[in-house]
Amino acid sequence: MKPSKGLVLSLVPIFLALYRVAAKPKRSLKVPRTEERVLVVGASSGIGRSVARQYAERGARVCIVGRRESLLKEVEAECRAARSSAGFGGGSLSDIFGVTADFTNVDDMVEVRNVIETAWGGLDTHVIAAGVSALQPLMAVAGVEVERGVTLKDASAQGIQNTTDIALAAIKGNYIGPLIAAVTFVPMLTNTSKAPSIVLVNSLASIIPAPTRTLYASTKASSLVLYQALSIEHPAIKFTFFMPSTVEGDFRASAVDSGPVREKDPNAHGLKREDVARRCIQAADNGEKAVFMPETMRYAHLLYWIAPSFIERMASRKYNFSI
Ligand SMILES: NC(=O)c1ccc[n+]([C@@H]2O[C@H](COP(=O)([O-])OP(=O)(O)OC[C@H]3O[C@@H](n4cnc5c(N)ncnc54)[C@H](OP(=O)(O)O)[C@@H]3O)[C@@H](O)[C@H]2O)c1
Ligand SMILES: *[C@@H]1O[C@H](CO)[C@@H](O)[C@H](O)[C@H]1NC(C)=O
Ligand SMILES: *[C@@H]1O[C@H](CO)[C@@H](O)[C@H](O)[C@H]1NC(C)=O
Repeated sequence: MKPSKGLVLSLVPIFLALYRVAAKPKRSLKVPRTEERVLVVGASSGIGRSVARQYAERGARVCIVGRRESLLKEVEAECRAARSSAGFGGGSLSDIFGVTADFTNVDDMVEVRNVIETAWGGLDTHVIAAGVSALQPLMAVAGVEVERGVTLKDASAQGIQNTTDIALAAIKGNYIGPLIAAVTFVPMLTNTSKAPSIVLVNSLASIIPAPTRTLYASTKASSLVLYQALSIEHPAIKFTFFMPSTVEGDFRASAVDSGPVREKDPNAHGLKREDVARRCIQAADNGEKAVFMPETMRYAHLLYWIAPSFIERMASRKYNFSI
């Protein structure tokens, strides 16, 4: 008798879990934790800030990057304090330092590379946590109101232009930034680390479409696929694609379309950024490729292809969207 497809499918999660247990973390043998050289782009707030502090706490060398200099100073102090209270000493100037830079700017990122080259002579772990949000339905960005029973009016030329400008800002923050980060650091990582790792903090929105997330999800998805393909071109580097659902914090304040937040308060219902950061670091340690948070969302992704309307209903509910 042939095993049923259902049975085979239901075994998939079990095999994945076994595989993860069997795959022992070996990276720390090649790159000892206290010698690990870590670059966190998007470290002035949110997930990146927690990732930077947690790396510092276990004695790693950490370079923190973001545009807001005053916040970087705070994070630097936070990292030193964490390092010191964990018993590694406060760290020298070259152990923990910030570089004010915009990751969508080539000169800025070349400068970050120069500083790292001088301080450490190389890099082991590159965490890309920077990104921008966008929160409105696409036609709302174009100035067209969509309501049940109301005939749609045409988008004006200005409305279409506005949509284009906002899309470009999203592309810059969610695609060009990660692109520049990769092109700038792939050679250095490959050349100078015994176990190079790149962690792209992406989003569940990249693989489960949601209303009000047209521009956000499509631009995050473009950098996800960029990195997925890049990882095949560079097998010497372990890539981690990190896909969390809603996380607490101020991410929505960065919305390129200055849209309203429609879902339940992320600070009350979102994942805790410290947990997200911990999972990120664990994934880099273990060389895990695709990481979902919560883990069950891996299967929501599959379910989308089997029963799209079910997932679409859930997504509409989450974002309080009805038409
Ligand atoms: N929050 C969520 O619900 C959620 C859910 C899933 C995925 N994510 C993803 O997680 C990542 C981090 O989000 P978060 O919640 O931690 O948001 P956040 O608090 O707004 O952090 C974003 C970080 O990126 C930096 N950044 C943005 N644009 C930059 C640029 N052009 N150059 C350099 N740094 C830049 C910001 O610093 P500066 O402004 O100082 O430059 C900030 O440090 C994002 O990529 C997001 O897509 C978030
Ligand atoms: C386009 O953007 C401008 C500036 O943000 C705004 O004042 C205007 O109302 C927008 N127009 C449309 C049609 O969306
Ligand atoms: C990598 O190593 C090669 C050979 O040692 C050297 O020619 C090249 O400049 C190095 N590149 C980087 C980015 O360090």
